[in-house]
Amino acid sequence: MDQQHKVILLLVLLFQVLLVTSQTASQTDNRDYSGLSSLTQSWSNRPQNWVGTDPCGGGWDGIRCSNSRITQLTEKIAIIFRRLPNLDLRGQLSSAIQSLSELDTLDLSYNTGLTGTIPPEIGNLKKLKSLSLVGCGFSGPIPDSIGSLTQLTFLALNSNRFSGTIPHSLGNLSNVNWLDLAENEIEGTIPVSDDQGRPGLDLLLNAQHFHMGNNKLTGTIPEKLFNSSMKLEHVLFDHNQLEGSIPRSLSTVSTLEVVYLSHNQLNGSLPDFNRMNSLTYVDLSDNGFNDSNIPSWVTTLPQLTTVILQKNQLGGALNLSGYSNSLQLINLEDNEITELDPVNNLPNIELRLANNPICRESGASENSYCKQPVRNPSYYSTPPNNCSPSPCSSDHISSPNCKCAFPYTGLLISRAVSFSNFSNASYYREIEQTLMDTFRNQSIPVDSVSLSDPSRNSTSDNFELTLQVFPSLTDRFNATGVLTIAFLLSNQIYKPPEFFIPYIFKGANYDFFGGEPEGSKSSSNTGVIVGAVVAVVVFVVLAFLAGMYAIRQKRRAKRSADLNPFANWEQNKNSGTAPQLKGARWFAFDDLRKYTNNFSESNTIGSGGYGKGEQMLVYEYIPNGTLMDSLSGKSGIWMDWIRRLKVALGAARGLAYLHELANPPIIHRDIKSSNILLDHHLNAKVADFGLSKLLVDSERGHVTTQVKGTMGYLDPEYYMTQQLTEKSDVYSYGVLMLELVTARRPIEQGKYIVREVIRVMDTSKDLYNLHSILDPTIMKTTRPKGLEKFVMLAMRCVKEYAAERPTMAEVVKEIESIIELVGLNPNSESATTSETYEEAGGGNVQHPYREEDFSYSGLFPSTRVEPQ
Ligand SMILES: *[C@@H]1O[C@H](CO)[C@@H](O)[C@H](O)[C@H]1NC(C)=O
Ligand SMILES: *[C@@H]1O[C@H](CO)[C@@H](O)[C@H](O)[C@H]1NC(C)=O
Ligand SMILES: *[C@@H]1O[C@H](CO)[C@@H](O)[C@H](O)[C@H]1NC(C)=O
Ligand SMILES: *[C@@H]1O[C@H](CO)[C@@H](O)[C@H](O)[C@H]1NC(C)=O
Ligand SMILES: *[C@@H]1O[C@H](CO)[C@@H](O)[C@H](O)[C@H]1NC(C)=O
Ligand SMILES: *[C@@H]1O[C@H](CO)[C@@H](O)[C@H](O)[C@H]1NC(C)=O
Ligand SMILES: *[C@@H]1O[C@H](CO)[C@@H](O)[C@H](O)[C@H]1NC(C)=O
Ligand SMILES: *[C@@H]1O[C@H](CO)[C@@H](O)[C@H](O)[C@H]1NC(C)=O
Ligand SMILES: *[C@@H]1O[C@H](CO)[C@@H](O)[C@H](O)[C@H]1NC(C)=O
Ligand SMILES: *[C@@H]1O[C@H](CO)[C@@H](O)[C@H](O)[C@H]1NC(C)=O
Repeated sequence: MDQQHKVILLLVLLFQVLLVTSQTASQTDNRDYSGLSSLTQSWSNRPQNWVGTDPCGGGWDGIRCSNSRITQLTEKIAIIFRRLPNLDLRGQLSSAIQSLSELDTLDLSYNTGLTGTIPPEIGNLKKLKSLSLVGCGFSGPIPDSIGSLTQLTFLALNSNRFSGTIPHSLGNLSNVNWLDLAENEIEGTIPVSDDQGRPGLDLLLNAQHFHMGNNKLTGTIPEKLFNSSMKLEHVLFDHNQLEGSIPRSLSTVSTLEVVYLSHNQLNGSLPDFNRMNSLTYVDLSDNGFNDSNIPSWVTTLPQLTTVILQKNQLGGALNLSGYSNSLQLINLEDNEITELDPVNNLPNIELRLANNPICRESGASENSYCKQPVRNPSYYSTPPNNCSPSPCSSDHISSPNCKCAFPYTGLLISRAVSFSNFSNASYYREIEQTLMDTFRNQSIPVDSVSLSDPSRNSTSDNFELTLQVFPSLTDRFNATGVLTIAFLLSNQIYKPPEFFIPYIFKGANYDFFGGEPEGSKSSSNTGVIVGAVVAVVVFVVLAFLAGMYAIRQKRRAKRSADLNPFANWEQNKNSGTAPQLKGARWFAFDDLRKYTNNFSESNTIGSGGYGKGEQMLVYEYIPNGTLMDSLSGKSGIWMDWIRRLKVALGAARGLAYLHELANPPIIHRDIKSSNILLDHHLNAKVADFGLSKLLVDSERGHVTTQVKGTMGYLDPEYYMTQQLTEKSDVYSYGVLMLELVTARRPIEQGKYIVREVIRVMDTSKDLYNLHSILDPTIMKTTRPKGLEKFVMLAMRCVKEYAAERPTMAEVVKEIESIIELVGLNPNSESATTSETYEEAGGGNVQHPYREEDFSYSGLFPSTRVEPQ
């Protein structure tokens, strides 16, 4: 039998596409699911139990919904993502966040790998009450649009790299209670409402917290910023470049507890705090205050524990008669103090006057207040609770209850700690106790907490403690446990003792799996696959052999051009017009019966999902099978780098033809390696138009169709919006390109190829650091030239947003340029003969096998058109 002239008969039956959907009674509104998928699609890591399509009903970690009925649009989803084991969560906050329009709580804190800017679309989350992005890697300006989140009560953007100015629009957040912008690179002045009608922070009459320390704020603190209608408790503008004097209006805010304005260039006189009966902590150190006497409030206010006025030019007397019992520390080091009253019988407080004239008098240096306190490194570590710790294995630590477990850790930081004896254990015990109370109250299975390593951070001046939270039921927390603990701390639900507020927490990475390599756990976990594709709809895909019933030719056919029965594309390379289908012909049924020995079973080489029936297509036999077979090694063909480039080019040209030259254009919708056929010369041919869609002009760009395609290749945007464009094919093609370089299936052992490449890829390294996932076969001989460009192109094809993906024509150009880079002519014979196989009718060509079912008459019969 002549292999070269084998004939396959395709029996295309009246078929029905069997679509089985798994969308059984989802409890999640599709917009929310779609938004979530899109938002997290490019993220390197997601919670392990995010499997399926139903975040609300599926109990996804960090997601809460308020109403489980799918018909209702009032679902609230609270997202709490944290970093996951070993891997840093890397990604950006995309504009897709706006889809989650019922969101009331958004907490992405402690994800240092979340970078980029905050999209202005965040302003569309009108129901947001709490926005917490503490300790991430965000940069760029705080978007103006945050000012339209008028329901916000909690806004924490601290410890990022935000720059630009504080937007005036924040003045519209009239419900905000907590406003934390500290530890960023924010510059400019503090905005107050002005005559141009712009709002400002003076309008935040419900705010209790202005936390803006450690930035680059300049200018004066506006007189208008404060007034007696405010409820401010904590005013923190430390470590900025503010100048001028403290506005008198600050003293009208009688609720003030903490005033922290140190490390600025403020001058003039100290504020008059004589009626501020709630004040507990005042730090105005390292400024230019030059009062000639220390005001009496420094010693007499009933609640005041800590006064730090170090490094100013304060002069005159410090009158300690009638001092308040609450006082613990007065630090006036590096000033111009000349007198102390009384001189003897000093109260039992920590008084520091070193580097003042009073301490330069002869003999004065003997006074304890003149000594620079020798700061022994303060030490504290939660002791064992009446038990003896036993040694623990590997990453386990003995808890205060002597139980070996893996704790959740982080830094508990006080910005205004108001106890000065860091060796006095009773303060730490109190923090431990309140933490445990909170965890118990919230039914979190916590065995115990441990505090250790108290220290002052010399950059921020903050007081830091290491916190370890030990699980009680198991030796590790699960994601729910960690998320809940982190949420309590990032959203200030935990209330520490007075002497520790205001505090923040910076959570560390948590390893849920005990250091086992990622892969060993994730094989059982299909959840780590790309969002949009996750088990959406189970497609029964029409395989390329669908409906085929093959019969072997018994007789040797003559090798002769005019006897070649197969249709061909004839392209006029110079005119640029669409290639035309030439030479298609009819076969008599009797002839076919003869060639196939009466359709004998023994001649079958495959059959497809349509079954057998009456209509047939005769195709050219494609001896080298599918690209999938070749990549998996099944076909025994050695696919070197150059061959792969040519396959890529062939497939790209086929698709470009469908998109740009076919009339009307065709979206293939099922590009995948098992639909790319390889002929004798390993030229690629795009096959299987079972899901293809013709685009009439009016539809271009906004065809709404039921989502179909193959898992792993499915364009997430198409999936979410159901809007089909040519770019969906580009996405699938991008996945195919990654398949070509890695020889991996798009989803293998629960890992999605696109994510894997993003995870490993590092453009600063050799071969983009992809060695571990590249198919070793292409590395066998020489270095695969142009591979970086190829991968970069693939990454553009799999961009989340269709608009960011190249067109197939651009892809063709780029691959051609890569092939030139390799030193070949992309238009050489073997490359140009690539074409689409089982092609649609190319516009006006009337195909002989027409079928009434098909709404488009020029369509090749196996191309099914979706009913709209
Ligand atoms: C603030 O709110 C007012 C009224 O609610 C609105 O007109 C104005 O545009 C808002 N300003 C900003 C800067 O968002
Ligand atoms: C405080 O400032 C706000 C906004 O500027 C203003 O509406 C309010 O009347 C002021 N209250 C007092 C007592 O001045
Ligand atoms: C405070 O500093 C500003 C410049 O920052 C200066 O113009 C002003 O005179 C100073 N005022 C006092 C009272 O020192
Ligand atoms: C504080 O400094 C300013 C500017 O140098 C000066 O005018 C003022 O007299 C000083 N005040 C006192 C009390 O020394
Ligand atoms: C300190 O205050 C007491 C009473 O308030 C007063 O009698 C005394 O004269 C003051 N001392 C100085 C040096 O001003
Ligand atoms: C430690 O601090 C507690 C609470 O303030 C206090 O009651 C106790 O006297 C202090 N102990 C010592 C030794 O200073
Ligand atoms: C600090 O507290 C420790 C332990 O409570 C105590 O031994 C020490 O004397 C205290 N130091 C001061 C300066 O009060
Ligand atoms: C425990 O929770 C209840 C209500 O849920 C709350 O009223 C109480 O203050 C909480 N106690 C602590 C210590 O957090
Ligand atoms: C001290 O604080 C700065 C700024 O917040 C931070 O970058 C740094 O990591 C902290 N250092 C330590 C040792 O915690
Ligand atoms: C996580 O831990 C909590 C408390 O131990 C438990 O109730 C919950 O079922 C656990 N979740 C999972 C998914 O195992």
